[in-house]
Amino acid sequence: MIRGYGHFVTLAESLQWDETDIDYSADRAAWPRLTDAESARVLGLIAGFVIAETSVSEELGSYQAAASDDSMEAVFRAQARDEARHARFFDLVAAEVARVPGADAAARRDALRTHVGPELVELFEERLPATARRLAEDHGGLTSAVGLYHMVIEGVVLLAGQHTMLDTLEGLSVALPGLRKGVELVLRDERWHIGFGSRIVQNADIGRDEADALLAQGESAAKVWGDLITPDAIETAVRQHRRRLKAAGIKFW
Ligand SMILES: [Fe+2]
Ligand SMILES: [Fe+2]
Repeated sequence: MIRGYGHFVTLAESLQWDETDIDYSADRAAWPRLTDAESARVLGLIAGFVIAETSVSEELGSYQAAASDDSMEAVFRAQARDEARHARFFDLVAAEVARVPGADAAARRDALRTHVGPELVELFEERLPATARRLAEDHGGLTSAVGLYHMVIEGVVLLAGQHTMLDTLEGLSVALPGLRKGVELVLRDERWHIGFGSRIVQNADIGRDEADALLAQGESAAKVWGDLITPDAIETAVRQHRRRLKAAGIKFW
């Protein structure tokens, strides 16, 4: 079995980008020309990502502290830098393109909560922080905490949302090229985050109960987007989740 995490740091380094380098001028001009249904859907997805990326960037510190060695710790640190950038990117789009009111990111996030269902808010603002708190107290819970963060949240919830966002942008009556560019870059980062989490799970040799719980969590978590994503997108995300768990050496009985 392959162990060691150092190559993820090298990979992260080669994929760095800056949300302020993206040109949003075409997006700003196009936003008022979206239909009401189009802007409601895109804003709902943006709201979900603002809430999600803010939460994941804030909770990664407990994971870093629970890392089993220096190489894993360095990867969590590289990932935290990505997640903070993702949170800034979606907030920037909310503020400058969708013109969500609010003096700062926290105020805009408050305004955006009404655009998503309570299940999404609960997952990111209660369940993930509670898992991170437990991990801070008991570092032995790292594998299941990574299962929730990297496999379920990033691998199912965020990936399904990102694919839906790209499909939605494709079908709009006017283009939002800055948003599309940023979402593609976020997706590129998330792929290695998920790969890193899969490696941790693979190295942990988890048992049947934990494997079943991870699969069930993936199936229920995919639904937190409500109507914002299609049943098809959920099904695809769950299928990929199952395949990823199998690739990480998990057997389903
Ligand atoms: Fe992210
Ligand atoms: Fe991530």
